Amino acid sequence: MAPAILITGAASGIGRASALAAARAGYDLIAWDIQEEPLAELATRVDVAVTTASFDVTDGDARRRALDVARSSHPVIEGFVHAAGVSGAEPISAFTAESWARTIDINLTTAAAMTHELSDDLAASGRGSIVYISSVEGWFGHEWLPAYCSSKAGLLGLARAAGMELAKRNVRVNCVCPGAIETPMLQPLLDFAEFTERTISRTPLGRIGQPDDVADVIMFLLSDQSRFVTGTSLIVDGGLTSIGGI
Ligand SMILES: NC(=O)c1ccc[n+]([C@@H]2O[C@H](COP(=O)([O-])OP(=O)(O)OC[C@H]3O[C@@H](n4cnc5c(N)ncnc54)[C@H](O)[C@@H]3O)[C@@H](O)[C@H]2O)c1
Repeated sequence: MAPAILITGAASGIGRASALAAARAGYDLIAWDIQEEPLAELATRVDVAVTTASFDVTDGDARRRALDVARSSHPVIEGFVHAAGVSGAEPISAFTAESWARTIDINLTTAAAMTHELSDDLAASGRGSIVYISSVEGWFGHEWLPAYCSSKAGLLGLARAAGMELAKRNVRVNCVCPGAIETPMLQPLLDFAEFTERTISRTPLGRIGQPDDVADVIMFLLSDQSRFVTGTSLIVDGGLTSIGGI
């Protein structure tokens, strides 16, 4: 049985592409998402052992149950990718505590809780690696997205702090920071031709990113090729931030 990678948000976009890339690399999969059907479809597309569970990953009790099931089929869990996320568009002028808390809970608090819950498994693998999907908006502001920007900046801090502690157990913790990637999350914006054209014109590599562009970097961070990389982040944005952001 191959070591497994646990991926949240595995039903769609970057998480799905990461699951497929991990399977191509020979890892077994523990694939979690709130969407049931696309998870089942993912399972039909891979040749490795896969355990799926559809539930809200912010629910700690449900997570613990799903983890017990996963551990019984996957004795070695080597990687954790937190790709579940929401964009939570709500400018500070329309702030509500409920919406703020939901965005922070899914994007950031669940990453921290799962890092805690998986730390023994990852340490036992001897070469554990955690990758959080932050964003270029962890580095730059966006007036519609204060909670999102805060959650993504928080992941950068979490990777540094958890990375320091877990390095003692040879578990590495890093972020990827995607720019504009063509997924269901970004699609409503991509539907505005003006947004797409402006983003492409400000991207030195001249296109909107694809989920595989990010998944390949995630695979690097999961692999032994990045064995001396921890507590940091890699920007995957076609050069967007090199010229000052969106
Ligand atoms: N698409 C982009 O341009 C972009 C850019 C930077 C960062 N990101 C980040 O990448 C990550 C993946 O996003 P994506 O673009 O692939 O979007 P996506 O909407 O395609 O995928 C997100 C997945 O997370 C799942 N999810 C959301 N809340 C959940 C919950 N509470 N429990 C379980 N599953 C849940 C959704 O069902 C979905 O399958 C997110 O963290 C997002 O913030 C995306």
